[in-house]
Amino acid sequence: MSEFRYTVGDGSTDVVLSRAPLSAVLAEHLSAEPATLLVADQNTIELCGGYNGPAVVLSAGEDAKQWHAVATILERALAERLTRDGRMIGVGGGVICDVTAFAASIYMRGISLTLVPTTLLAMVDAAFGGKTGINFSGYKNMVGTFYPASLLLVAPAALGGLPQREYQSGLAEVIKSAMLGDAELFGYLEREHTAVQARDQEALQAIVERSLAVKAAVVERDFSERGIRVWLNLGHTFGHALESVAGFGRYTHGEAVAWGMACALDLGVALGITERRYAARAFALIERYGFVLQVTGVQVEQLLQAMRYDKKVQSGSVRFVLQRDLGQTDVLPVGEEDVRAVLRSRIV
Ligand SMILES: NC(=O)c1ccc[n+]([C@@H]2O[C@H](COP(=O)([O-])OP(=O)(O)OC[C@H]3O[C@@H](n4cnc5c(N)ncnc54)[C@H](O)[C@@H]3O)[C@@H](O)[C@H]2O)c1
Repeated sequence: MSEFRYTVGDGSTDVVLSRAPLSAVLAEHLSAEPATLLVADQNTIELCGGYNGPAVVLSAGEDAKQWHAVATILERALAERLTRDGRMIGVGGGVICDVTAFAASIYMRGISLTLVPTTLLAMVDAAFGGKTGINFSGYKNMVGTFYPASLLLVAPAALGGLPQREYQSGLAEVIKSAMLGDAELFGYLEREHTAVQARDQEALQAIVERSLAVKAAVVERDFSERGIRVWLNLGHTFGHALESVAGFGRYTHGEAVAWGMACALDLGVALGITERRYAARAFALIERYGFVLQVTGVQVEQLLQAMRYDKKVQSGSVRFVLQRDLGQTDVLPVGEEDVRAVLRSRIV
């Protein structure tokens, strides 16, 4: 078992990374808690054998990230007479983590929060860093708060039953972490491809621990996304545009981000910013993990339109997270013609 403490905004998050089965981790860390409310979905409730308290079970998938789910959690918390010294516990993927954290942040103006991520994406990204949220009025993550969990319980053994496409989606964020700031993780992913794909326990421990450390290094310096936290959006401007134009669900978030990272590398190379040798190495790694670097069924102008609506549009020009080399990241405004040329080459 490894334990870390990261500073997140005004508070801190204790991370317990354990080799034990999730039920054992829950039993060990939650049995002493006096008043709790656990939130899971129809799939992840099956992993919660070590917990005996009250639970809200939401439907699985993005549809649960809605206001009505928040209301359900708040109503149950009231019915259970959860007071400010109680705790909410979210057990699940990014959806359950986001919605539980949001409910915890507003219940009685904030109640203690434990997150127990059960997808790779949630372990390396969604559960850590304090961003909470729900989708609202058709817009993704439109309503939310900054509210870090005080405790993160991470048991990679829980990933054994995760569908392959969900696992691969999380790997895109692991590759992103390596590109942003961990040359050793990058090399590990190149060398240990077989172990990572086989979900070998040592490999899972290694990639989760190192990815969390990269995110922590960024979030500790910039909690509220006024500066370098934007780096975590590497590949996401292109990726979000693809997700929204193709229709949410057609490409997983990770597939869209992997494609987006390839586009960001192309853009950097075309502008003379990105080292060609680094770009070639990164393309090879992304492809090695099975991501498709050319997409179908979308049009260049639709993607450009979606990017204009992206949150990162400032005074008319779209700002992109680009890299000079591994670990050397910058945010730069880029003209539409350059973006158009990249998109043309990445759509078939
Ligand atoms: N807050 C943040 O910083 C942040 C960052 C990235 C993504 N997100 C959010 O995360 C969400 C996506 O999260 P996700 O990809 O984890 O999807 P998800 O939460 O929908 O989980 C994917 C599916 O896997 C199932 N599942 C979860 N754990 C399982 C396990 N161990 N075994 C078997 N099945 C399991 C779930 O029931 C669900 O059906 C999006 O809403 C996104 O906006 C938030």
